[in-house]
Amino acid sequence: MKTLSNSEVAIASHSPNDVFFCPEESYFYSQCLEKMVLNRCTNSDLVIEFGSGDGSPVIHSLLRTPFKGKIHGYELNSRAYKVAQNRIKQYRLSDRYIVRNQCFFEGYKQSQANYLISNPPYLPAPDNDIYMPSLHGGTDGAAITKRLFSVGCDRVFSLISAYSNPVETIEYALGKGYKTIDFAIAPLQFGYYSSEPKVKETINALRRDRKAFYSPNIYLLAGVLFEKNHNSNTDLSSELLKVMTAF
Ligand SMILES: C[S@@+](CC[C@H](N)C(=O)[O-])C[C@H]1O[C@@H](n2cnc3c(N)ncnc32)[C@H](O)[C@@H]1O
Repeated sequence: MKTLSNSEVAIASHSPNDVFFCPEESYFYSQCLEKMVLNRCTNSDLVIEFGSGDGSPVIHSLLRTPFKGKIHGYELNSRAYKVAQNRIKQYRLSDRYIVRNQCFFEGYKQSQANYLISNPPYLPAPDNDIYMPSLHGGTDGAAITKRLFSVGCDRVFSLISAYSNPVETIEYALGKGYKTIDFAIAPLQFGYYSSEPKVKETINALRRDRKAFYSPNIYLLAGVLFEKNHNSNTDLSSELLKVMTAF
C-alpha cells in the first residue's frame, strides 16, 4: 500500500471546496512557471504570486530550475495556506518561497517585484455563492485577472481561460501597456468547479455574447507572459487570441 506524505494526508482530508484541487491545471501552471518565468529570471529577481493554493505548483517549478531568488506568495484561504506551509517545510524551501495568509491586494509590495505570477480565480458567475467562493472571477470570470495588470509589475504571468472573456482580458492588458511575449496552451476538460450548474449556465450565456469559447467537453487554458516596456516589437496577442477563440 502507498504511504501518503504529510501534505498528501492534509490534501486528502479536505474536500475540493476547502483547498483548490485540480491537478491538471496546477501541473500546467507549474510547467509554464518553469519555462516562461523561472528559467528567465536572474537570482536577484523578486517574484510575487497571487493565490498560492496548496503551494505545489511553485514548489515543483523551484525544484526543477536553477532560480535561487525569492517568491512571495499570498493565499487567502487559511486551509490552503497551512497545506502550503507544510509542503514548503517538507521541501526545505522556507527561505525561497514565503507564503502569507493574506489577501494579495492588501499584502503585495509593488515597487520591488519584477514578476507577478498567478493561476487566478476565473470562474464566471453572477455572485460568489459557488462551491468555492474564492474561485469567483466576477460576472465574466476576468475581473481578478484584469486587476493584476494594475499592480505595476513589468512582467505578469497569468493563466487565462477561453471561457472567461479572453478577448477583453488581452485587450485590457494591451491598454495597460503590456505585450504578449510568450504563451502556451493546454486543452482541459470541464471539471468539478466549472461544471457547477450556476457556473456552467454563466459560461453558456457568455458564449452567446462571444465572451466564452469551448467545445462540448474541452476548453483551452493559456499560460501567458506579458511584459511592459518591452524593447522589441514582438507581440503575440493576435496569435494567442486566434487559438483561444477557435472553438
Ligand atoms: C485557481 S486557485 C490556484 C491555486 C494554485 N496556485 C494552483 O494553481 O494550484 C486560486 C487561488 O487564489 C486564492 N485567492 C483568491 N482570492 C485571493 C486573494 N484576494 N488573495 C490571495 N489569494 C486569493 C484562492 O483561495 C485559490 O487558492
